[in-house]
Amino acid sequence: MHIGTPLSPSATRVMLLGSGELGKEVIIALQRFGVEVIAVDRYPHAPGHQVAHRWHCIDMTDPKALRALVELERPHIIVPEIEAIATDELARIEADGLATVVPTARATQLTMHREGIRRLAAEELGLPTSPYAFADTLEQLQAAIHQVGYPCVIKPVMSSSGKGQSVIRSEADIADAWEYAATGGRVKQSRIIVEGFIDFDYEITLLTVRANNAKGEIETRFCAPVGHVQVRGDYVESWQPQAMLPLALHRSREIADKVTTALGGRGVFGVELFVKGEQVWFSEVSPRPHDTGLVTIASQRFSQFDLHARAILGLPVDVSLRRPGASAVIYGNMNATGILFEDVDEALQVPESDIRLFGKPEAFERRRMGVAVASADDVETARARATACANKVKPCEG
Ligand SMILES: Nc1ncnc2c1ncn2[C@@H]1O[C@H](COP(=O)(O)OP(=O)(O)OP(=O)(O)O)[C@@H](O)[C@H]1O
Ligand SMILES: [Mg+2]
Repeated sequence: MHIGTPLSPSATRVMLLGSGELGKEVIIALQRFGVEVIAVDRYPHAPGHQVAHRWHCIDMTDPKALRALVELERPHIIVPEIEAIATDELARIEADGLATVVPTARATQLTMHREGIRRLAAEELGLPTSPYAFADTLEQLQAAIHQVGYPCVIKPVMSSSGKGQSVIRSEADIADAWEYAATGGRVKQSRIIVEGFIDFDYEITLLTVRANNAKGEIETRFCAPVGHVQVRGDYVESWQPQAMLPLALHRSREIADKVTTALGGRGVFGVELFVKGEQVWFSEVSPRPHDTGLVTIASQRFSQFDLHARAILGLPVDVSLRRPGASAVIYGNMNATGILFEDVDEALQVPESDIRLFGKPEAFERRRMGVAVASADDVETARARATACANKVKPCEG
């Protein structure tokens, strides 16, 4: 294991596919190890573009454009940060020995699609999930809902952050849900998954790290569980650790171990789980750091971004919790470019708080523009602090 000198022939080169706020933190973590980083996104001045050695704008779903850029930059490691990538081309790039894909090209293929990961988890690995069925037409949707029962959640198989997703409570909701799913997916007229609604007590992200141990073998480690609140499928607040019954934690780790072992490779995974008492259901998994894991900036010895950087470089990891922590999202609250953030100084008067402003060129009402994090003796205080800190930041027209 060695790391070269950036911008020299010995450089260790890493290419980020997707350079949003999570990618930006991964890039900073890599930069600290002297890695040469190439940031890719579909629009200029994306958060990660601003902290990389070089940056590019391409349509990452275009296999030819992706291949051409990889051949131009010759990265040793490719780190996908988003799901909407030409993952079949990534598989060819990996098979041709051009670069290592993190965690594996197959993992990115399976998780870009709700059907791929759901069938792997439920049918191959036998993990507990909500009951589910798939549909391509309105008639099939009606049949799928009949099979799964009410209430149920319908989602385009290719979508994220709650887009195109709705809860159906009776037959009267079906037409609207179908319409919304057809327009909210990443691709028009994408397939739909119907999932039985799980009446959970709480949901967690179990950040799971596959990294080399002292013997150079891949070992799986679990961060303390992250609890979170989602509004319309989008995360607004998270905290760590989430208190859990011992059996529920044990089952969560077992599920996370199975699914991440099946996906393989090295890196951080965000395993999303629903918990009710001692019962645990697998929901989905990101083969990369997770938005709810932003809390780890305040709560862990090494954030999920540091852990991802270490794991993919083959370095040792330490997943220990430093102190209870929480995160709260700072939204744009307006549609405008080049906005200002006022009262950041007042916000940072909150004890043990910190802020990340992502530097996105354009704000939308519900776009995540920054995050406030805080730590404390207990999670409740940390949550109150993170929320107070986030609320004090005032986005306004530039
Ligand atoms: N079957 C279900 N039962 C109950 N709640 C659900 C179910 N499916 C999803 N949800 C709720 O909706 C949220 C978003 O769902 P999911 O994670 O599947 O969508 P997503 O669009 O991939 O979100 P993200 O990409 O932000 O993780 C979940 O975190 C959970 O709060
Ligand atoms: Mg999710």
